[in-house]
Amino acid sequence: MSDNLTSIQKKAFTELQAASTESDVYLIKSRYLGRKGALTQIIKNLKNLTADQRAATGKSINDLKNLLEQEINNTLQHLHDVQKQKKISQQDLDVSLPGRKLPLGSKHPITTVTEKILRIFTSLGFEVIEGPEIELDFFNFEALNIPKNHPARDMHDTFYLSDELLLRTHTSPVQIRTMQQHSPPLRIICPGKVYRCDSDISHTPMFHQVEGLMVDGDVSFGDLKGLLGLFVHRIFGEDTAIRFRPSFFPFTEPSAEVDIQCVMCKGEGCRVCSGTGWLEILGCGMVNPAVFRNVGYDPENVNGFAFGLGIERIAMLKFGINDIRLFFENDYRFLSQF
Ligand code: PHE
Repeated sequence: MSDNLTSIQKKAFTELQAASTESDVYLIKSRYLGRKGALTQIIKNLKNLTADQRAATGKSINDLKNLLEQEINNTLQHLHDVQKQKKISQQDLDVSLPGRKLPLGSKHPITTVTEKILRIFTSLGFEVIEGPEIELDFFNFEALNIPKNHPARDMHDTFYLSDELLLRTHTSPVQIRTMQQHSPPLRIICPGKVYRCDSDISHTPMFHQVEGLMVDGDVSFGDLKGLLGLFVHRIFGEDTAIRFRPSFFPFTEPSAEVDIQCVMCKGEGCRVCSGTGWLEILGCGMVNPAVFRNVGYDPENVNGFAFGLGIERIAMLKFGINDIRLFFENDYRFLSQF
C-alpha cells in the first residue's frame, strides 16, 4: 500500500512540474483528489483492511493529501507570478512621454488685486483691520454723520435686515469701530465685502472695497494727495496722470473724488471713459470733525483723512474687463486667464 502511495506522489509531482497553465493544474487536481481521483479510490478501499492497518494507512493517505494540496497551490501561485511577469515585460512603457497635467487652480483676480493694494499700504505703515458685514445702522450711517432721513442714504440702496441691522453698504463703518477702540495716531487699511441693492454691467449686489484712514495731530490734504498719487502710480504705472475733483461725503470735509487718466485711451477719450479721458476710481477727504466727535476724539487736537475705493473697479481697469458680473460667475475660462 505505501509503495502505491509513493508512486502516486511521484507521478503527481512530475505532472505538476510539467504543468504550464492553471487549467493543467486543475485537471491534475481532479485526477488525484477529485471524486474519482486516485487517492479517493484508495480511501474507498480502506474498508477491506484490518482496523490496525486502516489507522496507519489512513494517516499516510491524509499526509499525502495535504502534501498534494500544498504543492497544487504552490504551482498555481508560481504560474500566476510567471504570467504577471510576462505581462509586465511585454508592456511598452515610454518613460520619455510628457506626463498628464492636472488643472491647477489660481488666485481669483479680486484676491490678487486686494493683496496688491494691501501690500502697498502696509509697506507704508498702515495696519490691516477688518469689520463685520452685518452692521448696525449706527456704524454704517449715524456715526458717519448720515442721520436717518439724510438724502445721502438714498445713494446706498441698503439691504436692511431690521430697523437697526443691515448689510454694510461700504467699509467706512470700520473707521468708526476702530476709532472707538483705539486712540490716535491711527493708520489703517480695511478690505472687505460690501452690499448694495443694485445690479447691471458695472454693479453687483456684493462687491469689495478698501477703506483707508489716517488720524494724527497734523495731517494735511497734501499728505492725502501724496499718498494716493503714490498708490495710483504703483497700481497703474508711474506715468498715469491723476486729478482730484471736489465732491461731497457727509463724513469728510472737504471731500474729493480721484480720477486717473483713462487706461484704455491714455486720455484721448473713448467709450470706456465716455469721451472725457478720465476715470473715477475713489472717494476721499479730510475726516469731518462731526465724525471725530461721534467717536470721542477732540477735533481741536486731531485731524486726518479717509479714502474708499472699489476693488472690482480697479481690477476691471487693470485687466481690461468690461463687465463686473464676470468676477462672480465662476466661469473657468474667465478665471483661468489670471
Ligand atoms: N464710503 C464711500 C463710498 O462708499 C467712499 C469714501 C470713503 C469716501 C472714505 C470718502 C472717505 O462711496
